[in-house]
Amino acid sequence: MNSTENDDKWAALRGVTQPMSDGDGEVGIGDPESYTGRGEIPQPQPLERHGPARVVAMANQKGGVGKTTTTINLGAALAEYGRKVLLVDFDPQGALSVGFGVNPHTLELTVYNLLMQSDVSIEDVIVKTNVAGLHVLPANIDLSAAEIQLVNEVAREQTLARLLRPVMSEYDFIIIDCQPSLGLLTINALTAAHGVLVPLECEFFSLRGVALLLDTIDKVRERLNFDLELDGILATMYDSRTTHSRQVLQRVVEAFGDRVYQTVITRTVRFPETTVAGEPITTWAPASSGARAYRQLAREVIAAQDDRR
Ligand SMILES: Nc1ncnc2c1ncn2[C@@H]1O[C@H](COP(=O)(O)OP(=O)(O)OP(=O)(O)O)[C@@H](O)[C@H]1O
Ligand SMILES: [Mg+2]
Repeated sequence: MNSTENDDKWAALRGVTQPMSDGDGEVGIGDPESYTGRGEIPQPQPLERHGPARVVAMANQKGGVGKTTTTINLGAALAEYGRKVLLVDFDPQGALSVGFGVNPHTLELTVYNLLMQSDVSIEDVIVKTNVAGLHVLPANIDLSAAEIQLVNEVAREQTLARLLRPVMSEYDFIIIDCQPSLGLLTINALTAAHGVLVPLECEFFSLRGVALLLDTIDKVRERLNFDLELDGILATMYDSRTTHSRQVLQRVVEAFGDRVYQTVITRTVRFPETTVAGEPITTWAPASSGARAYRQLAREVIAAQDDRR
């Protein structure tokens, strides 16, 4: 996408950056897929062999939009479909690690050691989860120092890409949970990725940062990672009862068309509950609407990957 296209997108989004009064009757349909739906999503076929991985950066510099929740639950749903998945916690908050019941402060080795010590290999740091085929590269607050220490490294933006290379053939998907910033760690994730998945909260102000994120993706594509794609935009925290949730979703679909996933994640307290439970919603509440939504997203992600092959 060039910057003119971005300007157009930005113009299309501008209309929803100011809250409109609720109940003006402009948008009336509560079912989110009436905006995003395009057709049937195929059932994934079993794999005969694994790899090479598609690396996906889960990115949005806005905080609290569902990056970590989506990384955990998309990862778990992909694993349910027989895919081998590695989740990379690339946020010093360690929320992804906590989401699997790992206490990040007691870990001896984390992604920080992998980034900073040449004698630590990725296999030493990867931990298994309770979900078969789902592995995690954990992080803790140590990672915040990496942002500063990496500045002096040769090819500092390519560090994560280099470190993931040895395991690319083992996994079908590697998903990197980025921190809410566009700093060096996120640039590393975008440089290591084939595609970016952008969770976007269905709130007026969440659209403001999207143009900046798209510009950053363009810059990384021009300078560091020529094949980087925008895999898709995932509408999260959707609340069918509010007109503004619907308006935001409608505008996002107008601006991004079929790059918006058909799956929309509804706002529900079941997600915060899973953080306390320390497991994905797909295992904690397997029949819940949230679990079903992330399974459907996994089918979309697998279908897109099958189309690329
Ligand atoms: N669909 C949802 N409905 C309700 N709550 C949700 C939903 N998705 C995520 N949450 C909750 O919202 C909070 C923020 O979600 P999450 O941590 O996934 O966002 P994030 O983008 O990773 O945040 P950060 O930018 O801080 O890393 C968490 O408490 C999470 O449990
Ligand atoms: Mg997070």
